[in-house]
Amino acid sequence: MQKPVLTINDLAADFLQCPNRHDTGSEKWDRYRGRTTSTGKEILPFWVADMDFKSPDVVLEAIRQRTDHAVFGYTHETPGFATTLTTHLREQHNWQIDPSWVIGVPGIVTGLSITARLLSQPGDGILTLTPVYQPFLFLPKLAERRSVRVPLHADTNTQRWTIDWESLEAAMTPDVKIFWLCHPHNPTGKVFEKEDLLHIADMCERKNVTVVSDEIWDDIILDEDVQHIPFASLDHPAAKRAITFVAASKTWNIAGLGCAAAIVPNEDFRKQWRQAGEGLVPMVNPLGYTASEAAWKDGEPWRQKLLDVLKYNKQLAVDAIENIPSISCIPPQATYLLWIDCNEWVARQRPGQNQPQQACENAGIGPSNGPEFGGPGFLRLNFGCPPALLEEGLNRLRDAFRAHETSGQ
Ligand SMILES: Cc1ncc(COP(=O)(O)O)c(C=O)c1O
Repeated sequence: MQKPVLTINDLAADFLQCPNRHDTGSEKWDRYRGRTTSTGKEILPFWVADMDFKSPDVVLEAIRQRTDHAVFGYTHETPGFATTLTTHLREQHNWQIDPSWVIGVPGIVTGLSITARLLSQPGDGILTLTPVYQPFLFLPKLAERRSVRVPLHADTNTQRWTIDWESLEAAMTPDVKIFWLCHPHNPTGKVFEKEDLLHIADMCERKNVTVVSDEIWDDIILDEDVQHIPFASLDHPAAKRAITFVAASKTWNIAGLGCAAAIVPNEDFRKQWRQAGEGLVPMVNPLGYTASEAAWKDGEPWRQKLLDVLKYNKQLAVDAIENIPSISCIPPQATYLLWIDCNEWVARQRPGQNQPQQACENAGIGPSNGPEFGGPGFLRLNFGCPPALLEEGLNRLRDAFRAHETSGQ
């Protein structure tokens, strides 16, 4: 039986409003602080991937208990960190790991940099599918590696992003040692299916490429008929040596607490891990461990309510975009991000006229700019906020594209 469409009355009250984040050092809200449109509107931020919701009470209570202890010395993985994560992955994703495989890292971006140094040499290539979360594109250069990019293909008939297998195979030249997979994928919201994952596994095994799978979005799956399959859970040799990253940060909105987990089944890689990050990577802070553990252990009821709000918001956003001529999107299967194609609109503009990002900011909405992800003519919109705020943002998006609709004709 199909699930009924959610209405605003189905959403939990905690998600209908959010605290004012000004003066908290919020990266998201400070970007446009003090900048207004020509009509005096504050520019609303819909860019960086954190949500405006409060974290769940179970997380807040765990942090309170930890601060009551009142000693915050150097901390390695807390006793429950690896075991709660192990249970969480088994229950949510049907993946049995050994707790000894888990290494705490202060962030996945940091963890990706460690894998570059651990699994390749200067000058080697790191492969990824574009568009993609910006650090996948700029980290290789910082580690003196080469960024190798294979574009995903937008199949408008099936409304899915697909892999061009021939291009992927051709890109795996002998110097390519690592495949950074973003799964679920930011910014398109694609969840790779088992068939795709097995195909990647076969190719990487043949070409001696290690898969590093960033699964930070694994707990935000929006489509009812889609299941997240961890790459390393496949029954395949490439899966056995893969490295996976997960975190509670996106789902329970604790990104500022700086805590993620690397799952490294290969013992040699684990032994070399700390050496690869030596002098670069600090320890995780104790509150990060506490909050992540509480989220995985007791955060499921809150996550279910969050998913309702995000599904509702996704529909609002997709419907709004359908009604704006010359922009479009393939609805995301996961994440709280919408990847909007504005190329038709761009083609209608006079040379030198506003680009999509500028047009949006002029109308009072600040999404992320597509070229940063390797997607010219695109925008990324973060819909992890109360529906009323999203509606205001979507009205402004309409204004942005309506204002210039016919200007090139
Ligand atoms: C795919 C992906 N990986 C990693 C991160 C950031 O992770 P961290 O804050 O743990 O470095 C993000 C944040 O948006 C992301 O989308």
